[in-house]
Amino acid sequence: MFDFTPDRSGTETLSKPELYRQLASAADALTSGEPDGVANMANVAALMWEFIPTLNWAGFYRVIGGELVLGPFVGRPACIRIPFGQGVCGTAASTGETQLVEDVHAFPGHIACDAASKSELVVPILKDGTVVAVIDLDSPETGRFDDEDATGIEALAKLLSCAI
Ligand code: SME
Repeated sequence: MFDFTPDRSGTETLSKPELYRQLASAADALTSGEPDGVANMANVAALMWEFIPTLNWAGFYRVIGGELVLGPFVGRPACIRIPFGQGVCGTAASTGETQLVEDVHAFPGHIACDAASKSELVVPILKDGTVVAVIDLDSPETGRFDDEDATGIEALAKLLSCAI
């Protein structure tokens, strides 16, 4: 049995850097030695859901045939294909840069998969300088994500570059 949960011993709430350090360590332990990218993304989607509070969607879109295609996730069913440059995910994929959106309704072209989503963090995963997937986190709270979340997910994206 796998038991990967945040270790809160000795503290009431984990700092974000510590939470993301534990998440990365669990992701590393779960994916190392496993060559199947879909299996690894599925386990990391489950880990993000387990570790990161106040989410309504956590998962991956993969770059296939020049567009983003839905990958493993936890949350409600989502749009399957997103062209590069469209929505928050497509913008992260086309620019290769993290998109931290405090209010999705203020983001031009935001694609609403779940009406509950109010803020979003999308981080590209690069392999040899090319975007191969994005990590997408949605929250029902406006302004849920900050620079510490972005830094934590960027570290996870780097770690996953060789695992997906
Ligand atoms: N909101 C995203 C679409 C994906 S869902 O949030 C799961 C976007 O604008 O790209």
